[in-house]
Amino acid sequence: MNRHIAIDGPAGAGKSTIAKAVAKKKGLIYVDTGAMYRAFGLYLLRQQVDVNDQDAVIAACERADVSIAFENNEQVVLLNGENVNGQIRTEEVGNMASACSTIPRVREIMVERQQQIAREKDVIMDGRDIGTVVLPDAKTKIYLTASSKVRAKRRYDELKEKGVDCDLKKIEADIIERDERDMNRAASPLRQADDAILVDTSDLSIDEVIAKILELSDG
Ligand code: DC
Repeated sequence: MNRHIAIDGPAGAGKSTIAKAVAKKKGLIYVDTGAMYRAFGLYLLRQQVDVNDQDAVIAACERADVSIAFENNEQVVLLNGENVNGQIRTEEVGNMASACSTIPRVREIMVERQQQIAREKDVIMDGRDIGTVVLPDAKTKIYLTASSKVRAKRRYDELKEKGVDCDLKKIEADIIERDERDMNRAASPLRQADDAILVDTSDLSIDEVIAKILELSDG
């Protein structure tokens, strides 16, 4: 069986930063599953599909070709063959991804593609349902979290660094709203798998979190 590490947790917990670093150290491929939901969210925005119209969203999901390719071991998300890595990181796309990911059929399609990748490669995969649904047999499962205040501040600093004008209170409100939706949806809600290890990063540096996860996944 391939080597698999599952990392789940709420928005802004640092999953992708940590998973990328651990992937490098352990020679694994990093798979960011949120990027797939984001690419589909982008498709819905472009096609002006109403996210509340489930049938329309499902029809769109059957027709949108969201796939992942790897260039020099780096993930590239393709939407109908187009590299959309540079267009999926906005709050608007993130909110759309969160909204469409509540629909069971959309999840089914995405999960199938993610499991296919894991059948072929040694991966560290992050998302909301990796330890619970996508890779239930993963050898190491981590549930990465931090307080909403800390997560909002990290996001705020990141945006400021890029010169984007933003409001800390609004970012925290968005994070709380997204948590609420991701954790309370009926289909595969975000939750810690029974056999996952909880890592709260609120008071840890990135290097400390990486060291902890390397230690937890050794052996
Ligand atoms: O990790 P992210 O913020 O890029 O994910 C965007 C949204 O996609 C997230 O709010 C919920 C959804 N998602 C999901 O439902 N399941 C996953 N495995 C990954 C993301």
